[in-house]
Amino acid sequence: MIIEDVDFAAMYQAHLKKANRSHKTSDHWDKRAEEMAVSCANPNDPYIRDFLAMMDLTGADTLLDMGCGPGSICLAAADRFEQVYGVDYSAQMLTVCRRRAVQLGLGNVNLLQRAWEDDWQDIPVCDIAVASRSTLVGDLHAAMYKLNQHARLRVYTTHTVSPTFIDPRIIRAIGREVVTLPNYLYAVTVLEQMGIHPKVDYITSLNCQGRDNSYEDFEHSVSWSLGGLSEAETMALRQFYDSHKQPGKPLLAGDRSWAMVYWDKVDLD
Ligand SMILES: C[S@@+](CC[C@H](N)C(=O)[O-])C[C@H]1O[C@@H](n2cnc3c(N)ncnc32)[C@H](O)[C@@H]1O
Repeated sequence: MIIEDVDFAAMYQAHLKKANRSHKTSDHWDKRAEEMAVSCANPNDPYIRDFLAMMDLTGADTLLDMGCGPGSICLAAADRFEQVYGVDYSAQMLTVCRRRAVQLGLGNVNLLQRAWEDDWQDIPVCDIAVASRSTLVGDLHAAMYKLNQHARLRVYTTHTVSPTFIDPRIIRAIGREVVTLPNYLYAVTVLEQMGIHPKVDYITSLNCQGRDNSYEDFEHSVSWSLGGLSEAETMALRQFYDSHKQPGKPLLAGDRSWAMVYWDKVDLD
């Protein structure tokens, strides 16, 4: 078999299934909105600083931020654009994003409630389209195509590099097989097969979603990421926590790398 024989979009979907990445509804993200505003959206966070630094803003007046969450990118970048558009399917994420925009005194932030899978006809085409940490979608080919079509100049997307969302030691401790998710490789290959030759760079950041201050928080984070835990897994998790947790030291994976996959808009049709 040679590379041209591989359907990377289909392989990505099979890999997602193997990694047990079940489709999450907007309710899941609604519950995370307040904590993500604190832990993921600080404009001084190195991830956000690196993301903004990698963007070429030449000639760009408008920004589309797909899966904007609490506004991590669109609010941090708002003062560099005439208008920014934040899009997310979670109503609560948009509420938090709107509140933050008001607190920051930003008058050029437009928010729309849409999913990756929805019709985007009423979402404005913008000079730059970004999707930050929001690319773990069911259909990667459709998502990358939509972003390209909604950009006039350039597209910036970040994807997981190789990690599981939870520290592999924890996954082994509860008796599950560790399946990594090198999502960016699929993004690059799916784009290549669409006729887009993206560039790749890397951002290293702390895991901003995991909580392990108490056992209850820890169990909640692990269970949420793994799509639920059986009784036996929960007992094994408790044992792992009790034997490994040290006061003041994080137990969940500390380091997460993101790949920035970016390209100049390509006329595909
Ligand atoms: C990990 S957060 C990233 C938020 C923000 N972009 C950042 O970098 O901090 C993922 C975001 O994608 C959104 N999301 C997940 N699946 C989505 C879908 N199918 N359609 C629209 N938004 C989605 C979630 O609601 C959440 O706000």
